Amino acid sequence: MVRKLSPEEQPWCIDKETGEPIINKGVQNVCIDKSTICYIDGYHSKLFYRGYSIEDLAKYSNFEETTFLLLNGYLPTKNELEDFKTKIINEREIPDKVIDLLKMIPRDIEPMEMLRTAVSYLGNLDPERHDISRDGFYNKAIRLIAKMPTIVAYFYRIINDKELVHPNDGMNHAENFLYMFLGRDLEEIEKDAIDTAFVLYAEHEMNASAFTTVVIASTAADYYSSIVGGIGALRGPLHGYANVEAMRQFNEIGSVDNVEKWFKEYILTKKKRLMGFGHRVYRSYDPRAKIFRQYAEKLAKMRGGKILEIFKIANKLEEVALSSPLAEKGIYTNTDYWSAIVYGALGVPTDFFCTLFAISRVVGWTAHILEYTENNRIIRPRLFYVGEVEKEYIPIDKRT
Ligand SMILES: CC(C)(COP(=O)(O)OP(=O)(O)OC[C@H]1O[C@@H](n2cnc3c(N)ncnc32)[C@H](O)[C@@H]1OP(=O)(O)O)[C@@H](O)C(=O)NCCC(=O)NCCS
Repeated sequence: MVRKLSPEEQPWCIDKETGEPIINKGVQNVCIDKSTICYIDGYHSKLFYRGYSIEDLAKYSNFEETTFLLLNGYLPTKNELEDFKTKIINEREIPDKVIDLLKMIPRDIEPMEMLRTAVSYLGNLDPERHDISRDGFYNKAIRLIAKMPTIVAYFYRIINDKELVHPNDGMNHAENFLYMFLGRDLEEIEKDAIDTAFVLYAEHEMNASAFTTVVIASTAADYYSSIVGGIGALRGPLHGYANVEAMRQFNEIGSVDNVEKWFKEYILTKKKRLMGFGHRVYRSYDPRAKIFRQYAEKLAKMRGGKILEIFKIANKLEEVALSSPLAEKGIYTNTDYWSAIVYGALGVPTDFFCTLFAISRVVGWTAHILEYTENNRIIRPRLFYVGEVEKEYIPIDKRT
């Protein structure tokens, strides 16, 4: 006898007052823990890391200080910051075995898929790989935060047949990354832009990739497994790859004159998603996008040529979208829209954009892993079962 379950048989899913199942598809608005790391006010364009506004951090802080803040919960003293910077600088170089691996990875791969493989292998080589204590996590985090930029820069140079540029101890984290990647010294505006970008991307509450890292950590798995999971989640175009897709979209539009026609055809008629727009939490302009936009404009005007054209396309497209039904639904510009122009203007090829996101977001992932597992509980949600039960098993030769 086949039968369906009655609601009483899954009482954990049922609202006692209405008798209807409570389903939070996409885990929307479900709080999985208390936290002191990050607060987003999605209706008023506000974002705070450990209580400090993103505007102040972008203006006054830098990646290393923000990293210390996110991981430790307070702003460091001068000595603490110097000590922290030194620890990161000392861990920048990657093992030769990882360089050998980078040389074997197919050259036409999406760079995020390379990063997933390389971070996993780095974990195999980590001297403290079996240590899942808090100190073990913290030490591994410092090593990984220091090494991820080197992995990305080396891979870029390997697939482009360029000499590796080794870390420069005199440069800060963000500047050193772009120096190793591009193989040249940076102008002041470039140093400022890349450091601010890293601050803006360092953390963003319990998003899909942070949740993935915490789910994995909640099983008491090792640090690298969590981070590899986070990289996998970030690689999707609805999450971190949106900055890659945003740039591809600007290129596809091709000219300012085509913006309105393209928007009508693809977004309004064919219901394609506008990349770099919309957010699960923000129902207002993403405050990070506002800061990225300023850098995008400055850098695009400074460079001129193709990237200035792209900036103009993005500008017009934003204007059109913000006065369309999308904005009426609360769909506004998000951080990936303008970061795409900033990264493009800094000379980073489009398919690498998301790796820059990951280099920075590893900090937020680590903060959440440390916070959640301090008082750990395995993450194990339920599903409301709407299938059948007690079906008769029919042997294979009797099935029609
Ligand atoms: C980020 C994102 C996945 C959030 O999704 P979400 O909170 O689950 O929202 P939903 O997917 O339920 O979308 C709600 C509605 O808005 C629409 N919508 C959301 N974002 C949209 C976008 N960027 N372009 C067009 N329509 C969009 C959906 O089609 C849906 O419409 P419907 O109600 O008619 O079905 C979504 O906004 C998106 O896909 N954005 C583009 C990718 C992107 O920029 N991601 C980076 C985020 S930082």
